[in-house]
Amino acid sequence: KIPNPATIVIFGASGDLTERKLIPSLFRLDCDGLLPEKLAVVGVARTEMDSEGFRKKLAESIEIYSRHSKDRICKWSKFEKKLIYHRADYDNLEDYKTLNRLLVDLGKKQDIGANCLFYLSTPPILYPVIVSKLGEAGMAQQSDEYWRRIIIEKPFGRDLASAIDLNNHVHQVFDESQVYRIDHYLGKETVQNLLVFRFGNAIFEPLWSRNYIDHVQITVSEEVGLGNRAGYYDTAGILRDMFQNHLLQLLTLTAMEPPAGFNATSLRDEKVKVLKAVRPIKPEEVAKYTVRAQYRTYRDEKGVVRGTETATFAVLKLFIDNWRWRNVPFYLRSGKALNSKVTEISIQFRHVPHLMFPLPPEEQLPPNKLVLCLQPNEGMRLGFETKLPGAGMKTRTVSMDFLYEQDFGENILPDAYERLILDALQGDASLFTRSDEIELAWKIIDPIIQGWESEYAPPLAFYELGTCGPSKADEFIKADDRKWNPCI
Ligand code: BG6
Repeated sequence: KIPNPATIVIFGASGDLTERKLIPSLFRLDCDGLLPEKLAVVGVARTEMDSEGFRKKLAESIEIYSRHSKDRICKWSKFEKKLIYHRADYDNLEDYKTLNRLLVDLGKKQDIGANCLFYLSTPPILYPVIVSKLGEAGMAQQSDEYWRRIIIEKPFGRDLASAIDLNNHVHQVFDESQVYRIDHYLGKETVQNLLVFRFGNAIFEPLWSRNYIDHVQITVSEEVGLGNRAGYYDTAGILRDMFQNHLLQLLTLTAMEPPAGFNATSLRDEKVKVLKAVRPIKPEEVAKYTVRAQYRTYRDEKGVVRGTETATFAVLKLFIDNWRWRNVPFYLRSGKALNSKVTEISIQFRHVPHLMFPLPPEEQLPPNKLVLCLQPNEGMRLGFETKLPGAGMKTRTVSMDFLYEQDFGENILPDAYERLILDALQGDASLFTRSDEIELAWKIIDPIIQGWESEYAPPLAFYELGTCGPSKADEFIKADDRKWNPCI
């Protein structure tokens, strides 16, 4: 279903995300005929620029003229007419009033109407002032005839207290039903497929519990290091940057109970129940349940505080205290500057209860393993044992594989932002985080950060660039008689 006519207002339009993700996603949606004919995209930022300059900059940045076919260039020429630039100071009410007049004008002259999606893509420090000014200028108010919605980029707060503050602030101006907090992992096709995989098939769900599963590993490994984000990253670190949001989201989708229906409330209610059931790691327990590490050259990166203890790699061992998962460890692992980019969820089943084959007593058959690969080789792999042909009863692990590329063709997966922007235009908040979800996630992460900053902190381990991470991480899981799958 094509959404109704609307204006999208991007705050932070001269920034990196607008160039890299937002405009390319909107353009692709437009090319695929998924956007309404009547649509305007207003970029707002402090930089002096006119609409012509804005269009030119974006065309260059998505390499429209160099990489694409004639047909696509032609489509861009049509699409760019929808782009308008509005210079503003974020704390100046007058600038919002002029912006409002522009929106009213567009609504009338181009017959777009008054639906409006605000997108906050500025540094987070500006979120409160923008929200307040939108309120003061009367721009957040919706009616029976038109809607107003706001997408808020991550990070949403830097701890529980600031997330609560921000939620309160936002709720003074926008109703929760108007708020779309983005976690782009939820927009990934493969992440959504987790729901279909678990709840659209009858064969996996009966196995999906402590009765058959030994433990779960969730890995997000990245090759990239700090890039030019020292200012943000050095004060955030891996727990705020990756765990509070993406890894905990993957955990909730893996562990949640089947929602009664596929709608925002049911889905988010179930995710919230998982977060509530996560056994908190107390500050004094961090050495037992976590690993923290930093890549060797991190401290030499430009903009990083000398001698900083900011972690660029972490492992958390979490337990979910409910009927389904009691005592099944969930190992969450993520790091930067590693040897490969991989996001995967690996479900490790229990060993067979009794081994009837004549294997030496110290030898055990490897347990079955189900690996959901979310990126880059999107698909899944189920590993199981077979008899090696020939005499005797030797076995070997083989696998059944599903690869998106093979079954659906190459380049078939849309960018996460395409899906999320479209959902927000359609008013579907299922793939966005609710205020209680955000706060519960911080409740899990906050005490760990506190522990890491206290006398209880495990020693900071170091790892070389382009490796699997610190040997401390291997020792950590080995102590539980388990090993990582695979070595990232
Ligand atoms: C972002 C983090 O949210 O996610 C980045 O701020 C990280 O540090 C990125 O690199 C990873 O996203 P993806 O889609 O490349 O896995």
